[in-house]
Amino acid sequence: MKTVHSILAAFVLIAISMVVFNAIMSLKRSEQFKSGDRKLGLIALILTHTQLLIGLVTYYVSPWYESMKNVGMGKAMKDSELRLMTVEHPLMMIIAIVLITVGWSRHKKLTEDKAKFKSFAIFYGIALLLILSRIPWAQWLS
Ligand code: HEM
Repeated sequence: MKTVHSILAAFVLIAISMVVFNAIMSLKRSEQFKSGDRKLGLIALILTHTQLLIGLVTYYVSPWYESMKNVGMGKAMKDSELRLMTVEHPLMMIIAIVLITVGWSRHKKLTEDKAKFKSFAIFYGIALLLILSRIPWAQWLS
């Protein structure tokens, strides 16, 4: 489960980055919102939602969760690595996924092409920054 979560993370990052880059470039060039733009946003949405489900399972089978239960919440919060893995990472990723979902829903309601791209650039963009800030980089890349 951890391996799937780890591999899917790379696809999630690539997909969200592509949405944000594409939205910013399209805004600059005042391009029309086409079906390819919608598809890219949808792929990123599906990948992040899948990652959420896998993340939830990973959480309950991970040694981090086991450690948190063993040492207790109070002590776990004083350990920066344990806090990152059991609280900060899951919580921040869930907030990011909510933002992506809001950005997706907003774009569907908006009619102007510029507004649709803006919704993607802002919501997927902030989500990307949140995700990047709470990925366990050292553990992932080692
Ligand atoms: C956009 C969503 C997410 C991304 C990009 C992401 C990314 C990552 C990455 C790169 C790792 C390190 C994997 C490794 O060491 O090989 C990781 C670990 C982990 N993630 Fe996520 N994650 C996301 C969402 C979540 C969610 C929603 C949860 C839980 C509710 C979660 C729980 C965990 C746990 C428990 C680990 C540690 C696994 C272990 O070491 O056994 N993740 N995540």
